[in-house]
Amino acid sequence: MTAAVPVDPTTTTAWASLTELKKGLNPDLRGWFADDPQRAQRMSFTAGDLFVDLSKNLVTDDILAALVRLGDQVDLPARRDAMFAGERINVTENRSVLHTALRLPKSAELEVDGQNVVEDVHATLEKVYDFARTVRSGEWKGVTGKRIETIVNIGIGGSDLGPVMVYEALQPYVQEGLSARFVSNIDPTDIAEKTRGLDPETTLFIVASKTFTTLETLTNARLAKAWLLDSLKSAGAIDGSDSQAADAVAKHFVAVSTALDKVAEFGIDTANAFGFWDWVGGRYSVDSAIGTSLAVVLGPENFADFLGGFHAIDEHFRSEPLASNVPALMGLLNVWNVNFLDARTHAVLPYSQYLHRFPAYLQQLTMESNGKGVRWDGTQVTCSTGEVFWGEPGTNGQHAFYQLIHQGTQLVPCDFIAFANPAHPLKDGAADVHELFLANFFAQTAALAFGKTADQVRAEGTDEAIVPARVFTGNRPTTSIMSASLTPSVVGQLIALYEHITFVQGIVWGIDSFDQWGVELGKQLAKAVTPAVGGDEHALEQVDASTQGLIRFYRQHRTA
Ligand code: F6P
Repeated sequence: MTAAVPVDPTTTTAWASLTELKKGLNPDLRGWFADDPQRAQRMSFTAGDLFVDLSKNLVTDDILAALVRLGDQVDLPARRDAMFAGERINVTENRSVLHTALRLPKSAELEVDGQNVVEDVHATLEKVYDFARTVRSGEWKGVTGKRIETIVNIGIGGSDLGPVMVYEALQPYVQEGLSARFVSNIDPTDIAEKTRGLDPETTLFIVASKTFTTLETLTNARLAKAWLLDSLKSAGAIDGSDSQAADAVAKHFVAVSTALDKVAEFGIDTANAFGFWDWVGGRYSVDSAIGTSLAVVLGPENFADFLGGFHAIDEHFRSEPLASNVPALMGLLNVWNVNFLDARTHAVLPYSQYLHRFPAYLQQLTMESNGKGVRWDGTQVTCSTGEVFWGEPGTNGQHAFYQLIHQGTQLVPCDFIAFANPAHPLKDGAADVHELFLANFFAQTAALAFGKTADQVRAEGTDEAIVPARVFTGNRPTTSIMSASLTPSVVGQLIALYEHITFVQGIVWGIDSFDQWGVELGKQLAKAVTPAVGGDEHALEQVDASTQGLIRFYRQHRTA
């Protein structure tokens, strides 16, 4: 058990230097680029297949060097090594943090509590892959002997956001004749819409829940079971006897969980369940058996490539000196933006429609990890933490909220992500549409960095009264991430990159980035308030006046 006391970053000499550097800072990306032809090259780095240009951030070489010193002074390298070694750095839950073990090659060894976890990981992977192969080949049959065509993953948070994001990202890799749907919300609309039009005979549900206690997931799983049995019965496919119902559940339900006893209680045969371990956090679990839906639709080989991508970035993060370590530099830059430039949000803007769920995925990863005001030793944090992550794919975002990023009063650091090769190389007449698309990506980062001066606006003949409205200050920080193509490996690399960026920020702030106590109170209150919602007057009187008013409104207006 290691609960090394967090270093207060604000007491380090590096923080003092950064404070001084901020005081003297007069951001001037135009001037910095003009005076320093090597800036872009010097501040661009490679990690795995990712090319990462940090040069359009509001930093000088001195600031970057001080950020690297900050990383050293808060013991980032030692904390990183502790994570990779399986030490119990998730202090408030007394757990190791070993999502990196999920992507170690079979030949690796990592002992935790006397057990080589790599063996366990690969044994589970083989089980998931065998299952995936039987579904893909049609060997796995539904209760009426038909092959499976639709996988419905039922899960929420980390048991949903990763699988759905990657499914969307890797559409071109999905096997023909197979598709997936994802049910997460306890809003009954979700399961109703996601089962609409489905053929129960060719549908397989994967109930994915680390704890197998999550209200939303278990409720949706029960609804799915009822839907399956009812629709099979009304189609005359089963007669409604207990044995036929059990057979149908066995052939149409599998589970993923760390709690196999609870899976059995739910009525799913543990032979059809895939396990993982308490050292995998929910939001770090898409590369565990939680990704079973992906292994089925993408296939074991693509899933293995996906894991290989994660591992490439793990190796980079584990071994590269901080000064050229991309996740470390990006995490430290986020600290600079939050703590010295007062950024409160951070936009992630993929120039890839397939990555349209990536910002939503990152919201859980970053905000459930670092949205905390207490450090891992129980003391208060000593500076701002946890910026709000958000975003939409380009170019849709350009026509919606980029106005604020270009000309608003808030500083919004942005990560732009783009790929050299399109999945669909279409032409509009002579125009290569992917090039039109990428031109927007290149143009936006340049416009944000360099802006447009009043003189440039005047030179266009603009009426003097309108000049101020048409000036772009520039000096809006961006990071650009490029890769050749959006492959399974590259998706894994992107996820691992942001996992480690999140870790770096957590270490600087002294946060346990792997617990999530902040989601508990609302869950407890929802349970307590449920009887009041159902009409229990005594329970209603126990709640505050505002909530009583809302519940009474609900009770008066509920007609359906
Ligand atoms: O409520 C938050 C949370 O615990 C997340 O951290 C987790 O990803 C999600 O709920 C789902 O949990 P489970 O996989 O145990 O159903």
